[in-house]
Amino acid sequence: MKKQLIALLLAWMPVAVMAAGGSGYPLTHVDINLEDKAALQEGAKLYINYCMGCHSTEFQRYERVADDLGIPHELFMDNLVFDDAKIGDLMENAMRDDEAKLWFGAAPPDLTLVARVRGTDWLYTYLNTFYVDPKRPWGVNNKVFPDVAMPHVLAELQGLQEDTCGDTDPSTRDTLTGERMCGFKPITGKEGSMSEQEYKEATKNLVTFLAYAGEPAQLERKRVGVYVLLFLAVFFVFAYLLKREFWKDVH
Ligand code: HEC
Repeated sequence: MKKQLIALLLAWMPVAVMAAGGSGYPLTHVDINLEDKAALQEGAKLYINYCMGCHSTEFQRYERVADDLGIPHELFMDNLVFDDAKIGDLMENAMRDDEAKLWFGAAPPDLTLVARVRGTDWLYTYLNTFYVDPKRPWGVNNKVFPDVAMPHVLAELQGLQEDTCGDTDPSTRDTLTGERMCGFKPITGKEGSMSEQEYKEATKNLVTFLAYAGEPAQLERKRVGVYVLLFLAVFFVFAYLLKREFWKDVH
């Protein structure tokens, strides 16, 4: 019995570690707004340009994305779909898992549900905490996903940064000045095409798109929810009047 219990515990451990994000690094909160069509469109553009080469979103069709985001089909196909995929196709990619494993040491997972599994704060922090680490095969490492097999694909936008914290908690502040003790430092000569603020905005849009991809019905559910509540409010008035009518003779 004891052995079985231990086996069960061991089997659970990787799941527990994964759920914790693995590193314990403090996450940066990001406020996303799924109703912001411009953010969703910008996020979709970034996703298709920078992520879909390796990742798929297999549970999502182009057509649905175009419709939900308010992008006309023709514009969508001309600007965002590069292979010979058709508008009704699933957002798959051509990379085979076994080949990807060979190249990267790990297969890029499908990202349809990643925002639900990892959370939007985790994703945002992940995309913002790639730092230079010559010990890693791609020359970069990540704070929330230590020893990640993914290269920093957004480096041309963000540029490269150095981590000056090491194992120190990045929220540590100097007791006298109140200033942060450490953090990320941009590397001179390796700047990206975006400013720090622009990159934050871009990754926020990307996370917004991934949150939408994980639950495209979310927007509709909220809309329907409002109507349901309105209906209940109106219904309550009639139910109350009816009740008064029924009990009139009893009292
Ligand atoms: C060059 C190929 C490549 C590109 C392009 C790429 N990734 Fe990845 N990605 C990977 C690989 C490989 C992994 C698996 C890492 C591992 O398991 O160590 C990964 C893992 C991830 C994970 C972690 C998933 C999880 O829960 O374990 C996220 C999130 C992610 N990628 C997001 C993105 C986003 C967003 C983009 C676009 C900005 C992107 N990736 C572009 C190769 C890529």
